[in-house]
Amino acid sequence: MTDRDLDETARAILRANDRGGYTIPTGGLYPFQWNWDSAFAAWGFSTFDPGRGWDELDTLFAAQWVTGMVPHIIFHKEDAGYFPGADVWATGATPPSSGISQPPVAAILARRMHEATGDTERLRALYPKLLAWHRWWRDWRCPNGVACVTHPWESGRDNCPDWDLGMARVDTSDVGEYTRRDTGHVDASMRPGKEDYDRYIAIVQFGRACGWDQETILRDGPFLMGDPAITFILIRANRDLAAIARVLGEDDSSPLRWADDLEAALPWLWSDALQAYVARDVATGSFASAISSGAALGLLAGVENAAMEARLARIWDSVRYGIPSNDPAADSFDPRRYWRGPTWPVVNALIAIGLQSAGRVEEERRLRRETAELIRQGGFFEYFDPLDGTACGGDNFTWTAAIWLAWANGKD
Ligand code: GLC
Repeated sequence: MTDRDLDETARAILRANDRGGYTIPTGGLYPFQWNWDSAFAAWGFSTFDPGRGWDELDTLFAAQWVTGMVPHIIFHKEDAGYFPGADVWATGATPPSSGISQPPVAAILARRMHEATGDTERLRALYPKLLAWHRWWRDWRCPNGVACVTHPWESGRDNCPDWDLGMARVDTSDVGEYTRRDTGHVDASMRPGKEDYDRYIAIVQFGRACGWDQETILRDGPFLMGDPAITFILIRANRDLAAIARVLGEDDSSPLRWADDLEAALPWLWSDALQAYVARDVATGSFASAISSGAALGLLAGVENAAMEARLARIWDSVRYGIPSNDPAADSFDPRRYWRGPTWPVVNALIAIGLQSAGRVEEERRLRRETAELIRQGGFFEYFDPLDGTACGGDNFTWTAAIWLAWANGKD
């Protein structure tokens, strides 16, 4: 297949996963609208159908809660093939949705979409919603300055070793019986294990029991960890939102202030032992034991640190393809199990935006080449083994197709 054929296939995947105004990540495994997947889908659509790209963001933000939160899953239609569905979350939201959020990449990508298409009116309609969402992050997810997650799923990097410490403290004694659906769609060895799943469900049950009251969740919830990836993403997203405000002639300096505050709080995530920004448990103050791809998003926020860069460079050099989600030297590394080692085109694309901003042309090109190689060899899969390039997880994946169109297929 030539790259032009792959362009065609990628567009066909986005069209096939389109459910009318929103795009599912992939049939079977993920049959609803996911938050950050949709933002990437919008970016992909914008390369050949800009109007449809903006529609994707509009549909996502139509599910925004009055609090400003934009949920991580929107259950537009019922589908028995997924667990935990709307009935388990029981948020009472319309449209039905989960009760947590996901990485706030929308402003970063909306800015790029606007730069490419010049659709100022579509951006204007989105601006107050982006602002409200970022304010929600500030009000409800930055209890000690950096961005925290109340559930590993909120990080978008579900079973990453970043969360092992916090997860170990989650009590699963009252979880009860349930039937997973994910392992009916893809090989169980590529998915989180049963102990992880029990904990995921226990955290959902806590949120449901308190009616998704954010104060209770922050104060008494079973899980709260500082996330370097979301902190970096949010810093960048706030600065991009400030740039959007300037384009629109809006006068609001809050996003810039929020970005500065996040940056000032970053030392709390610095691990001397690992010489990197890593996840940290709010309750105990303990640091995660390995460097994840979260650290590699530093450049996205304009955060440069020579010691960390050196460690990240060694990690990258120790694999063949892309940035691994976990350090191959760590005991927890597993090259095919989801966020415990594999490389994810979608994260590589975010890291690449950081590299571009830092003017690191050669590294950006290398990352793009390696990501493109994975897709050329393996197809539009969810993620890949960074050592031998084996395609893993779901096939015909929306965000992999979108990343191909918007970034990885770039020439040079
Ligand atoms: C998994 C991923 C998450 C993604 C979702 C849908 O839960 O960890 O990042 O949004 O699948 O693709």
